[in-house]
This record gives sequence, C-alpha cells and structure tokens, in this order.
Amino acid sequence: MTRHATITGVGSYLPPRLVPNAWFEDKVDTTDAWIRERTGIRARHFVEDGVLTSDLAVEAARRALATAGIEAEQLDLIVCATVTGDTPFPATAVWVQRKLGLSCPAFDVNAACAGFSYALASASAMVEAGIADTVLLLGAEVFSRILDFTDRSTCVLFGDGAGAAIVRASERPGIEGTVLGADGSAAEVLIMPGGGSREPASPATVAAGRHRIFMPNGREVFKRAVTEMASACRQVLEKNGHAPEDVDVLIPHQANERIMRAVAERLRIPEERAVLDVAEVGNTSAASIPIALDRAWRAGRIRPGDLVLFTSFGAGLTWGATSMRWTMPAPEEVAG
Ligand SMILES: CC(C)(COP(=O)(O)OP(=O)(O)OC[C@H]1O[C@@H](n2cnc3c(N)ncnc32)[C@H](O)[C@@H]1OP(=O)(O)O)[C@@H](O)C(=O)NCCC(=O)NCCS
Repeated sequence: MTRHATITGVGSYLPPRLVPNAWFEDKVDTTDAWIRERTGIRARHFVEDGVLTSDLAVEAARRALATAGIEAEQLDLIVCATVTGDTPFPATAVWVQRKLGLSCPAFDVNAACAGFSYALASASAMVEAGIADTVLLLGAEVFSRILDFTDRSTCVLFGDGAGAAIVRASERPGIEGTVLGADGSAAEVLIMPGGGSREPASPATVAAGRHRIFMPNGREVFKRAVTEMASACRQVLEKNGHAPEDVDVLIPHQANERIMRAVAERLRIPEERAVLDVAEVGNTSAASIPIALDRAWRAGRIRPGDLVLFTSFGAGLTWGATSMRWTMPAPEEVAG
C-alpha cells in the first residue's frame, strides 16, 4: 500500500508584546500610514529579552500536539525551519527536542522565508519513505534580534512567532506534492552578511551592522516574489491535476499584502480564498505559513476536503509551493 503523508495537527504562538507601527515613528523616518498602505502591516509581535526561538517553537508545538491528539513522546522526528535559531549550531530543532524531553532525530532547514516549503517537502518525503511516522514540523523566528532599527526599509516589516504542524503517515493522500526553486545568482538582494565563514564575527563586523538583515533592493524582491510564487503554484497544481479555480484556500508567505494580492490575481484565485494574515503578525519568515495556517483553521476557514495551496518566497532567492487535500477535522470537532 502506498504511504501518504498528511497534516493531523496545527498550532501557533505569538509572543504577547504587540508593537504597533507608531512605535517606529520616532526611530526612523516612517509613518503608520506608509507602512499600512505599502505592506498591510499594522503591528507585529516582538519577544521580551531572554525569550528564544525554541521557546516560541515549543509553545506552538504543544498546541499542535493537542489538536493532533497525540503526546510528544509519539514524535519520531523534529524539523525546524528557521534563520534566527537559538544558536548557529546545534540546530534549534535540537533545543526544542531537549525542552520537550525527547530523544528523536532533529534538524533545521535554512531556506529563509521559503523555509516552511522546504521543511514540509522534507518532512512529507521522509514520512512517505518510511524514515519517520510522526513529524513535528516547525517554522520559528525571532527576527527582532537581527533587525536594524535604523533601516526603515526593513525594520518595519518583520515580526517574531512560531507555527507548528504534525505531519503523519496516512492511508489517505493529504500532501500531494511540492515544487521548489532557488536562484543563488540573486543571493545578495536579501542577506545577513556577517557571522559565517565569509565574514566571521569580529568587532569590525559587529560595528558595521553585518549581523543584521540587509535588503538593498526591496522592489526587486517584491517583483521576484510575485513571479516565482505564481509560477510555482501553477506548476504544483498542474502536476497534481488541478486548475487554479479548484483551490479552496491559498496560504501565501505573509510578507506583504500587496504581494499576496498580486499572486492571487495572477492565478485568478478570488481574493477571499487567500489567507491574508499579515496585519497584526508582520512577516515572520519561515513561521509565517504555519502561523497563518493555524489561525485560518481555528477561524473555520479550512474544512475537510478543501484543496489547500501553500506558497512561499525568501532569501536565496528561494521559493516553493505545495498542494494538499485537507484531512483534519473542523476545529469544533477537535479537543485541542
Ligand atoms: C519594502 C517595500 C514594502 C517597499 O515598498 P515599495 O512600494 O516597493 O517602495 P519602494 O521600495 O519603491 O520605495 C519607495 C520609497 O519609500 C521609501 N521607504 C522605504 N521604507 C519606508 C518606510 N518604512 N517608511 C517610509 N518610506 C519608506 C524608500 O526609501 C523609497 O524612497 P525613495 O523613493 O526616496 O528612494 C516593498 O518593496 C516590499 O515589500 N518588498 C519586498 C520586501 C519583502 O517582503 N522582503 C522579504 C521577502 S521574504
């Protein structure tokens, strides 16, 4: 019998501190109106001092385990998509494993804001191959620690948070397939240049702000995001025998409302079928899709049998799209 993989639990966690756009007005030359109009963002959550990426991930994981109706001990793999982990190594997935008191394999995926697509493809392929049965899939970020609060073109965009999904082996098909892409020729358009073997951490790199996010051409990132996400969506739909009009719920990476609207428009998917959840969350990078997924499911927007399409785009450049037939019951039928 063919082994399939599906999502059986979802959860998310946003740290309590909500930072409105106005907070940035006395830090950089910006306004609440500009940020709302150009991005759709009104506020984002930032962690307090001492809170780590793995802390957010563990909260999201506990919520996902509850909706899946399973115990942490049943997990046999943890995959975490992040670029703002607790430590450059070991992996944040390992810190999460320790906090959950487990001993299963654990690793991170670095594909920036496209991390969830790459991690979902890894998790579902490992389930289909019989390497794992029950995977904790995480997207978790503390972007506030790598923002440059003197750079108005990036500091207003990002937020902190974590999302989780439980990916399990199933007899019924759930996750149908994923299309992934990358273009290293554009690696410098969105980058944290310092801290690796290219520019090891030193007093000079710290003084020059090289350990912070750097996006010299936001407009180019915007254009490529729309093109690549729309194209990946078309490819994954075609591969799995669907047309864009079959899509019940589109969950794009939550970078900017204008990007998400443009992707839906290119695919001719009516906007009301797209989950736009950036307003009070901001761009949480690899965490954005699982956070939006959890919040949309809890709001009753995703029903059993729905065709759900995820698509992401990020630094690398990297991108991806996954189609799946939703198999989780409605929230009112789930204890967690
Ligand atoms: C960053 C972004 C919101 C800017 O919006 P935009 O409409 O493209 O604006 P532009 O980049 O054309 O910049 C227009 C002007 O606004 C300015 N600007 C940038 N950030 C600003 C801010 N926070 N407040 C006020 N003005 C700002 C720019 O400096 C520029 O000024 P100039 O014309 O004097 O040079 C948009 O390009 C974007 O969302 N890009 C993708 C970013 C992203 O999502 N990255 C992560 C991908 S995972």
